[in-house]
Amino acid sequence: MLIIYIMDKINKIAVIGLGYVGLPLALLAEEKKFDVIGIDASEGRIDQLKKRISPIDDKDASVRLKKTKIKFSTDFTLVRDVDIAIICVPTPVHEDKKPDLSIVESATISTAKHLRENALLIIESTINPGVCDELLIPIIEEQTKLKVGKNLHFAHCPERINPGDQKWHVGNINRVVGANSEEALDLAYAFYSQLIDGEIKKMASLKEAEAVKIVENSFRDINIAFVNELAMSFSKLGINVVNVINGAATKPFAFMPHFPGIGVGGHCIPVDPYYLIEYAHNNGFEHRFMSLAREINENMPAYCIELVETELEKQKLGDLKGKKVTVLGLSYKPNVGDMRESPATKTIKILKEKGAEVTTFDPYFVDKSTAKSLDEALRSAEVVVLATAHKEFIDAGENIINSGAKIVMDGRNALYSQAKNINNKVYLGVGVTS
Ligand SMILES: NC(=O)c1ccc[n+]([C@@H]2O[C@H](COP(=O)([O-])OP(=O)(O)OC[C@H]3O[C@@H](n4cnc5c(N)ncnc54)[C@H](O)[C@@H]3O)[C@@H](O)[C@H]2O)c1
Repeated sequence: MLIIYIMDKINKIAVIGLGYVGLPLALLAEEKKFDVIGIDASEGRIDQLKKRISPIDDKDASVRLKKTKIKFSTDFTLVRDVDIAIICVPTPVHEDKKPDLSIVESATISTAKHLRENALLIIESTINPGVCDELLIPIIEEQTKLKVGKNLHFAHCPERINPGDQKWHVGNINRVVGANSEEALDLAYAFYSQLIDGEIKKMASLKEAEAVKIVENSFRDINIAFVNELAMSFSKLGINVVNVINGAATKPFAFMPHFPGIGVGGHCIPVDPYYLIEYAHNNGFEHRFMSLAREINENMPAYCIELVETELEKQKLGDLKGKKVTVLGLSYKPNVGDMRESPATKTIKILKEKGAEVTTFDPYFVDKSTAKSLDEALRSAEVVVLATAHKEFIDAGENIINSGAKIVMDGRNALYSQAKNINNKVYLGVGVTS
């Protein structure tokens, strides 16, 4: 009953920030019969969207975009008559890994000052506990004439989208919502229940909802760091870590397999833990475990290159200076054209610093600075580093392994079975040996 009552009051929504999170959300809301406005600070992005060109690598969004009636604009005043405004702008870290909240802060202000009384403002961007209560609500109240919890409703619903995932998408991933008033919580709950075919869980506070997202991604970062550490240890002990993980995964409870690799990328996992690390630090607690996980995962590109250097030495081939090294894969994860925080970038940087002549190839990013095909990339390579397990590379695994390269460093253990079959002696994996 409450949902029907509330849904009668919600017709028009605005999504602010039309990237990997905001655009699929806006398109889903339109499909669910909401009247949607899409706002973005980037004129280039709005121009693209007006031409129905998707700025993100998301097949479903590209298809829906062709038929959408959503009004796209850079004009924040358009939020003045919406019932709900949802902020989906980036929350990156600075060079020194400290959280950069300036974008979410400015987008929140730009939006809040145009909202009508009693509208609901939702933050979907990933933020650490305390950002809503201690940063956003005070600045909204200071810079607008609105009182959060009285004449402006406010909620947080962290997005969990996993770009490229065919099974779990914006329309069916469970959500958590938090708010600082019963009414805002009910409104947000009713809205997401209408939108999403999944469970919507009410959290007791904004802080809890904020913490959920950081905990999820830190959990993954820590588990990956654990298996990366095992990979480094087991390679000295002559144990194949992937076989061990697959063995442990036969336990039907209390074990969740994670696999080692050249590094962790994307907008979330290598970024979000720093938000909690910093917030806890500022409040007198040091997250040693989370910080160590970040350190281990950040070091994986360097570790993989060290393996190559050791092998070069073993083969009496000198060091990386002047060596022709081909890096396969620029995306941070397979089968997606997204380079954000990709470990490939760091790998390339280290190789160049060591004097290697680096060629790159990724089927998702072909331009003047890259090879145009896998064949071209492999042609004169002395060392190949596989940084992303794109399907194209796995399908061409034998070509990669049998190329003229003296060393194939498989940073994703993606070609292991193919390397094993042909018993290639220069194949290096992460915690696996051929
Ligand atoms: N990408 C993911 O897989 C993912 C998953 C879950 C959560 N998140 C979180 O969601 C948030 C958004 O991430 P994303 O991946 O969609 O980012 P994105 O970079 O793909 O898109 C962000 C959009 O916001 C726009 N923007 C920047 N500043 C703005 C401003 N001041 N006002 C209006 N628009 C502005 C940008 O132009 C861009 O279009 C982040 O907090 C991220 O951590 C991302």
